[in-house]
Amino acid sequence: MLVLALDLTSREKALEIVEKTRDFVDAVKVNYPIVLSCGIEIVKELSEIKRVIADFKIADIPYTSSLIAEIAFKNGANAVISHGFVGRDVLEEIMKVAENYDGKVYVVTELTNEGAREFMGQFARKIAEIAKEVGCHGLIAPATKPERVREVREVAKNLEILSPGIGAQKGKLEEIAKYVDGIIVGRSIYNADNPKEAARKIKEEFEKAKLTS
Ligand code: C5P
Repeated sequence: MLVLALDLTSREKALEIVEKTRDFVDAVKVNYPIVLSCGIEIVKELSEIKRVIADFKIADIPYTSSLIAEIAFKNGANAVISHGFVGRDVLEEIMKVAENYDGKVYVVTELTNEGAREFMGQFARKIAEIAKEVGCHGLIAPATKPERVREVREVAKNLEILSPGIGAQKGKLEEIAKYVDGIIVGRSIYNADNPKEAARKIKEEFEKAKLTS
């Protein structure tokens, strides 16, 4: 599964990239840059073309977190991403909202950046355990830290794992492919001279790496 991280701020450019890559992309991930620039309506618009994962990295008290999830689902998102470090009660509340929409909840175990080792990395395993216990659908685990992807796969055998960090952040497909169900790729696709070809190639490489690793 290839998820396109649409970290753009122009509606026109975003729709153009999605149109160009749609044959090779399974879902589109929206984050704050595009929603703060274009408004929440962009989620609805994109959801008419592809499944949308709302990556609001929810990290608030249960009540506020549930409002954020509600807005995402109400506007056509198929899934939301929450931080896991906020704890079980937040994930439980978001799951209640997701169930009303038949939506999915993915939980970030650790970000891809080096600084995430300072705090989040120490709790990645525990976060994966809690996400599993609460019944969340999947985890977001960093391709830049293959040892962590292996670790959370061990804990959460039946959860879907999506992994960002391939390409611009230098994660290596062959190190994580067999542990994950999908990859999340942004800049290597939307900044490419030929985004369609870039998406095709990345998807092909991922599928090949899954078979051979
Ligand atoms: O452009 P690039 O392929 O590096 O985009 C990666 C995307 O994945 C960004 O949207 C970023 O917010 C997201 N992400 C990440 N690390 C995480 C969770 C999400 O890089 N652990």
